[in-house]
Amino acid sequence: MDGSSGPRVELDLHTDRAHGARIYDYVLGGKDNYAPDRAAAEAAMTTFPSLRVSMRANRAFMRRVGRFLAAECGIRQFLDIGTGIPTSPNLHEVVQAVTPSARIVYTDNDPIVLAHARALMTSDPQGRTAYTQADLRNPDAILAAPQLGATLDLDEPVGLLAIAVLHFIEDDDEAHRVVGRLLDALPAGSWLALSTATGDLDPAGTATVEAAYQARGEVLKHRTRAQVERFFDGLEPADPGVVQVHKWRSDELATAEVKHDADVALFGGVARKP
Ligand SMILES: C[S@@+](CC[C@H](N)C(=O)[O-])C[C@H]1O[C@@H](n2cnc3c(N)ncnc32)[C@H](O)[C@@H]1O
Repeated sequence: MDGSSGPRVELDLHTDRAHGARIYDYVLGGKDNYAPDRAAAEAAMTTFPSLRVSMRANRAFMRRVGRFLAAECGIRQFLDIGTGIPTSPNLHEVVQAVTPSARIVYTDNDPIVLAHARALMTSDPQGRTAYTQADLRNPDAILAAPQLGATLDLDEPVGLLAIAVLHFIEDDDEAHRVVGRLLDALPAGSWLALSTATGDLDPAGTATVEAAYQARGEVLKHRTRAQVERFFDGLEPADPGVVQVHKWRSDELATAEVKHDADVALFGGVARKP
C-alpha cells in the first residue's frame, strides 16, 4: 500500500498523522506508509542520517534474539508485542527454522498490522502462529485474548519480546508496570527480550528524531541505559547485558553497516525469569 490504494479490510488507519509502525516500514524500505510517516522519517534522517542503520540493526537484533531463545534456551513459545508490519524474516520464520513446532502469538495495536496479519500466519505446519490486535498498555487484555489461550501454554516457559515498542510509552511507571504484569503471568524459565530507543550516544541528533515524530503526532521516548536496565530488575541477564542492539551477541552482519557506535540509538537486552 502506498497511500493510493487502501488495504482490503476496512480499517481506520489515521493516515493524517505519523505512526511508528509505518515510519519504521518506510525507513526499512517497505511500501506500507503514508505522507505523514514519510515526512517524519525524512525529517528525522535529515538530522540523524543513521536512522536507517539504527533500525536495521534493531531488526537484526530481533533475529539474533529469536535464534538465541530457540536454539540456546530451548524456548518453543513466543509472545511478540509490537510486532510491526511484516518484514521477512518475521519472528516465526526465525524460530521455526530452529524449532518447526514453535508457537508464536503476535500483537500490535496498529490496525495496519492487522491488515497485513495474514503474512504472519504462514506457520510451519508443525507449529502455530496467531495474531491479536491489542495494546501493550492493557496487558490483561493481551493475556485474556482467545488467540493467546489457544496458542500458548502459560504453564510452560515463554519468550516475551518487546522489540522497539516501549519507546511508544512515554510514562516510565506505565512502561514498567505493563512489562511487569506480563512477566508475572509467565512461569519461571521464561525470558524477556527488549530493545528501546536511547539518546545516550548522540543526544543532539536523537533529540531531533524525537521532535520529528512528535511534530507529526507520534510519541517517541528515549531512555538512558540505567532506565533500560531497570526493566530487567529481578531477572537473570544473558551476556552481555544491556548494550546497543548491534553489540548484543553481534556477528559480522550486525556490525558491518555500523560505522560509528553513535549511529545506533537503541539499547537491547535479554534476561531469564528465575
Ligand atoms: C518500530 S516497530 C517494531 C517492530 C518489530 N518489533 C521490530 O522490532 O522489528 C514498533 C511497533 O510497535 C507498535 N506499538 C506501538 N505502541 C504500541 C502499543 N501501545 N501496544 C502495542 N503495539 C504498539 C507499533 O504499531 C509498531 O508496529
